Amino acid sequence: MRAEGIEVLALTAGEPDFTPPRAAEEAGIAAIREGRGKYTPASGTQTLREAICEHIQQDIGLSYAPSEIVVTNGAKIGIAQALLALVQAGDEVVIPTPSWTSYPEIVGIADATPVLVPCGPDHLPRVADLEAARTPRTRVLLLNTPSNPTGVVYPEATLRELGEWALAHDIVVLSDEIYAALTFDGAVHRSPLAVVPGLRETSVWIGGMSKAYAMTGWRMGFLAAPEPLAKKIGALQSQLAGSPCAISQEASVAALREGAAEREAMRAAFESRSQLVVEGLRAIPGLECAMPQGAFYAFPSLGAYLGKTEPTTGRRIDSGDDLAELLLELDRVSFIGGGAFGKPDAFRLSFAASEEVLREALRRIAARLATLS
Ligand SMILES: Cc1ncc(COP(=O)(O)O)c(C=O)c1O
Repeated sequence: MRAEGIEVLALTAGEPDFTPPRAAEEAGIAAIREGRGKYTPASGTQTLREAICEHIQQDIGLSYAPSEIVVTNGAKIGIAQALLALVQAGDEVVIPTPSWTSYPEIVGIADATPVLVPCGPDHLPRVADLEAARTPRTRVLLLNTPSNPTGVVYPEATLRELGEWALAHDIVVLSDEIYAALTFDGAVHRSPLAVVPGLRETSVWIGGMSKAYAMTGWRMGFLAAPEPLAKKIGALQSQLAGSPCAISQEASVAALREGAAEREAMRAAFESRSQLVVEGLRAIPGLECAMPQGAFYAFPSLGAYLGKTEPTTGRRIDSGDDLAELLLELDRVSFIGGGAFGKPDAFRLSFAASEEVLREALRRIAARLATLS
C-alpha cells in the first residue's frame, strides 16, 4: 500500500524510531574516514569485547572475560550460531510461547525440533508445563525477557524455578536479553544466569545493539558463553560470516561507553508511550491488555470481539490476523496478528511510532471494533 502512495499508520516495527547515540555515529564516521574498515578477529575486536564485558557486568551483574564473548552480525545470527554449536539433528529446543517469530525457524535451520510450550495467562512459562514437554532429547530452553511480543519481564522467582529446572536436567538456557535495557514502571530486569548459581557455566547469554541503542541496521549482536563454547561458536562464525563489520564494532564501543543518556531518553519515551497505548486499549470495552513491563510492544487479546462480524464486508473476526487484515484494508492501520507469535487470539502493536500516530491508530481501532457485531 505504501508503495502505491497510500498512507498507512504502521504499528508493526520491531525497531526503535530513534537515532543511535551521537557518539556511535561519530565513531563510525571516524572509522570509515581513517581507513579502519578492515577485517577484525572473527569473534570481534578486543576493545569491543572488553566494552561488552563491562556492559554485562554493570547492567546484568554477570562477570565474563573477553575470551568468553563473541560479537555477531546481529543477535539473530548469534542465536543461530549458538544453536548450531549446541544441537544435533533430532534434538529438541523448548520455546515458551507467545514468542518471537524467528525462534522456531532458527531452531529448524539448526536441524533441531522446536517444542512450543504455551505460557500461563500471565505470559510466564510454568515449570510443570516444561516438565511435561521434556524428553530425553530436550537440549535447550530458549528464554526471552523482556519478551517480544508480550512485554512481560520475568520475575526473579520464575527465573529461579526455570533455571533450576534446566540445570537439574542438563538443559542449556539460551537467554535472549536483547531488550534488557528497556524496562518500565519500576520493573527490574534480571538474567536467569545471574539468578541461578551454576547456570552461567552451562548457558548462553544473548544481547545486542539493535533495540537499546537504536542500531538495528548496524547489525551488531553479542553473546557470552563459557570459553570452550564461545570458541566453538567463534569458529563457526569464522567460517560462516567471517568477522563482524569493523565500522559497526567501533560505533558499538562508543555507544556502550558514551550512549547511556540517549539510551535512557529512548527508554523513557517508550515508557510513556506504553501508558498511552495501554490506556487507549483498555478504554475499548471487551479488549484485554496487560501492561507491558519492557521492550516496546503491547499484546492485547481480542476477548469479546472473537467471532464477531464486520457489517459492511461481512467478514468474521476469528483471530488477531483477521483483525490485522481488516484494519489494514478499511482503516489503513497495520499491526501484526498473534498467529506469528503462537497466540492467534491476540495481536501485537509496536509503539515505535510517534504519540500522534499512536493516538490516531488507537482511535481507528476503537472505532472499527465498535462496529463489529
Ligand atoms: C526477541 C528478539 N531477539 C533477537 C532479535 C534480533 O535482533 P538483531 O537485530 O540483533 O538481529 C529480535 C529482533 O526483532 C528480537 O525481537
